[in-house]
Amino acid sequence: MVVGLGTGSTVFYTLKKIGELGLDIIGIPTSVDTERKCTEFGIRTGTINDYDPELAIDGADEVNPNKQLIKGGGGALTREKIIDYRAKRFIVVVGENKLVSHLGQRFYLPVEVVKFAWKRTQRELKGRFGFEKVVRRDFITDNGNYILDCYGKVESPAEWEMEINSVPGVVENGLFTRDVYRVVVGSERGVREI
Ligand code: A5P
Repeated sequence: MVVGLGTGSTVFYTLKKIGELGLDIIGIPTSVDTERKCTEFGIRTGTINDYDPELAIDGADEVNPNKQLIKGGGGALTREKIIDYRAKRFIVVVGENKLVSHLGQRFYLPVEVVKFAWKRTQRELKGRFGFEKVVRRDFITDNGNYILDCYGKVESPAEWEMEINSVPGVVENGLFTRDVYRVVVGSERGVREI
């Protein structure tokens, strides 16, 4: 089975378990970090250019009641979207603390932008979408770009996912509003699915 493998501290346990069980999969890593962990856990890997994932498993920073997500706290949102959206089934694994009533409630929205005009892109994001603040993270993505973290309520997740990408200089944003197959929620009381 070809499986898209997400990035972050939650998916770490998925990778560890796949390694422990010795599952015969081809993993498609969504970041350099996940690729390294695959090597560490003995998981065979391939690239999205060569494989169509049956399944993708990834974490999230926020999940609203419509199973729409904010992702990118680890800065891997562009590769995550490329891989997660191409998978036939996309499964999200989160702790209960990630469930919110609206996106932007507790977390910020990460947006990957090219370095060239990042300040102009920052101003345009703040002006057009009315974010309270847009802050450049001290971080370079696996694709060599910057991340701008946008603070404030995401009024209209599906529309904004498209509209933010139409701002010149934006590479990708951390709104994931398409077809999440299943959200697996862990808490001290156990595991449930939504
Ligand atoms: C990586 O860029 C992110 O999209 C992660 O999937 C997300 O931040 C969840 O990470 P944690 O599981 O570490 O909270």
